[in-house]
Amino acid sequence: MKFIIKRIRRGPLGRRWLAAGLGGLCLIGAGLAPERAEGAGPVGAWPAADLPVEEAVARINELRREIARHDDLYFRLNAPEISDFEYDQLKAELLFWEKKHSDETFESGPVDPVGDDRMAGFVSHRHRVPMLSLDKAMSEEDLLAFHRRMVGATGKETPVYWVEPKWDGIAISLTYGDGRLIRAVTRGNGTEGDDISANVLTIEGLPTHLKRWGPDAAGGVPARVEIRGEIFMSFAELARINQERREAGEVEFANPRNLAAGTARLRDPREAAERRLELVCFGWGAYEPEEDRPRTMEGFRDRLVAWGLPVPVSVVRAEGWEKLLEAVREVERGRESYPFPIDGAVVKLFETEEQDRLGLSRAAPQWAVAVKFAPERAVTRLVGITLQLGRTGVVTPVAELEAVQLAGSRVARASLHNAEEIARRDLRIGDYVYVEKAGDIIPTVVGRDESRARGPDSQPYRFPIQCPECGVQLLREEGRTAIRCVNDACPARLGRQLENFASALSIRGLGPATLAALIEGAGVGSAADLYQLRAEDLEGLPGLGARSAEALVRSIAASRAEPWEKVVLSLGIPGVGEQRAGLLARVFPDFGALGRATREQLTASETEGGAGLGGATAEGIATHLAKPGVQRLLQDLNSVGFQSWDEGPSSPGGGTFANEVVVVTGVLGGWSRAEITALLLAEGARVGRQVTGETTLLVAGDRAGANLGLARSLGVAVMDEAELRERLPRPAEGNK
Ligand code: IVH
Repeated sequence: MKFIIKRIRRGPLGRRWLAAGLGGLCLIGAGLAPERAEGAGPVGAWPAADLPVEEAVARINELRREIARHDDLYFRLNAPEISDFEYDQLKAELLFWEKKHSDETFESGPVDPVGDDRMAGFVSHRHRVPMLSLDKAMSEEDLLAFHRRMVGATGKETPVYWVEPKWDGIAISLTYGDGRLIRAVTRGNGTEGDDISANVLTIEGLPTHLKRWGPDAAGGVPARVEIRGEIFMSFAELARINQERREAGEVEFANPRNLAAGTARLRDPREAAERRLELVCFGWGAYEPEEDRPRTMEGFRDRLVAWGLPVPVSVVRAEGWEKLLEAVREVERGRESYPFPIDGAVVKLFETEEQDRLGLSRAAPQWAVAVKFAPERAVTRLVGITLQLGRTGVVTPVAELEAVQLAGSRVARASLHNAEEIARRDLRIGDYVYVEKAGDIIPTVVGRDESRARGPDSQPYRFPIQCPECGVQLLREEGRTAIRCVNDACPARLGRQLENFASALSIRGLGPATLAALIEGAGVGSAADLYQLRAEDLEGLPGLGARSAEALVRSIAASRAEPWEKVVLSLGIPGVGEQRAGLLARVFPDFGALGRATREQLTASETEGGAGLGGATAEGIATHLAKPGVQRLLQDLNSVGFQSWDEGPSSPGGGTFANEVVVVTGVLGGWSRAEITALLLAEGARVGRQVTGETTLLVAGDRAGANLGLARSLGVAVMDEAELRERLPRPAEGNK
């Protein structure tokens, strides 16, 4: 019995979507379902192998429990343990057995067909029209079966379809009343979901009022409409956030879908605003008055555009089977080129009236289907596990693989997430593993190919208990998965910190090998020590000749003139990447102020003179800055002579800004702060960092914070970047 269950669990699915030669599925087929009978039929058409009733019932119960667990991980915790593809397979298998044994009674009620993403701490709201899921087609056969149903239902040989990409984000329902945005609610359990309006309002381009366009009194805007769509994140935004996290020494996010879901449900909209979420709209729930509903999908799309809502760009009207198949294949072919993750195509009947006639099943509309694409996946051998140490001490395991081609690139290393994941999947060196690249940027090991027997030497992987670099015992913080080296004197950690410091301040010539030599051979114990180095101390260290030693010392000295926000970035404060460094730099103008930063200052809004950060982020920053070692570093750096911004004019006595004391604040579009400061100094201004009683002019860019509030209250003149450009002499005149 055990054998049978195992065999079935591995998903002897029939030919999956794309297996018909469209893309990367062959690998998946080869890896996932080694025993499946080729061409055995679509997903859901389970194999000939049957189970005695009691075993089938046991399997159904097992699948239900397993699916409920994965629902919880996916919908509530945004931390799925299996890929969507594997999840869909479990669901398809459950459906198969349930259909076959529909007379039996089972342990638990039927699995909630749409999952449940509601979370404590949000206000629930009931959808006027439930938010449904979509039936899935995992293979060409499934799609053909759908098409045949549509032929029967519409009475047309060539039904008309509307084909769109299937966004991989989180479903949202936006309610507009008389054109005004009332609220944004997640799918929840399909009937009611969480009100996440505060976070959704941070999405650029989301209209709070629908544009009026029609000739009628209401201007073509319905009395009430529930717009259905998806909130998602682009790959570029994920990369930007990960870049910041790398700089900030934090663990990177693996895929944009989970990050979008997590961000949309952050309790603090200020934190959500720091990540760029996007929205696309493709459906409706309630539409009042009902007779005004659009007649076709195209008509609906035009209406969304007229109202000012974002819509799918690559949509196709397809008539009949051939055209439908071609349209779906087109979406699949273009998959790699979308700047955001998609995991399939959605096929809908084109005409509203036909949709109405077909109606809904318990969980999904009968007139639509989601064609799911398999993630690109390969099987290869895990030849080793290495540990990477970040500058905050986090130790991340990395899979070293026998190189394999995956989604157009050669993959020899992949993410293993953390120690828990390795143990949970019992991954061992020497195992054959599946590597996947779905919506993920970084390839990930998603499981083990159990069909390949392990050798006699195979041993469970034991995560090292000591830091691979300094030998001090590693620690796992309560309630966290990350394992850390907490030794502040760990030379490898210091090396990473100094790498970060050098890169933020554009110091050239401080690569990992030179840094290791400086730490070991020249007694460098902190960033401040770099400024004490003389060329003769460095000469002769591995890789450093007289010339390169001099160049390095010059580059270190020059770094003192870098803009203050770069200095803040260089400090490696956990959670502080470029964007937050800019915020901190505006609020805390020097080392002293930064060292005294409080949680209250960090969380206060920018207009109140604070940094406007979320509570958890602020707490982390304040705690870090208060550490004795960090306080010492700030003092030491302060005393090595970083350039002050409070400078006198470089052309005393004349210029457009003679006798002005100017402060520049906020983000400027065209100039860097260093450039603008230089221009102002050249025009006779004195340039300060903070508005004081002496200040005569504030130049305010975007997101000007405390300084702007202060300038207004002190009656200081304020001008924006455009006005400043007007007042500055034009370059040609300036050169005269
Ligand atoms: S139509 C009545 N179109 O997929 C069904 N859904 O699995 C309305 N999704 O809840 C959905 N892209 O969140 C539709 N182009 C698209 C979609 C799409 C992504 C999501 C949506 C839905 C889920 C169903």
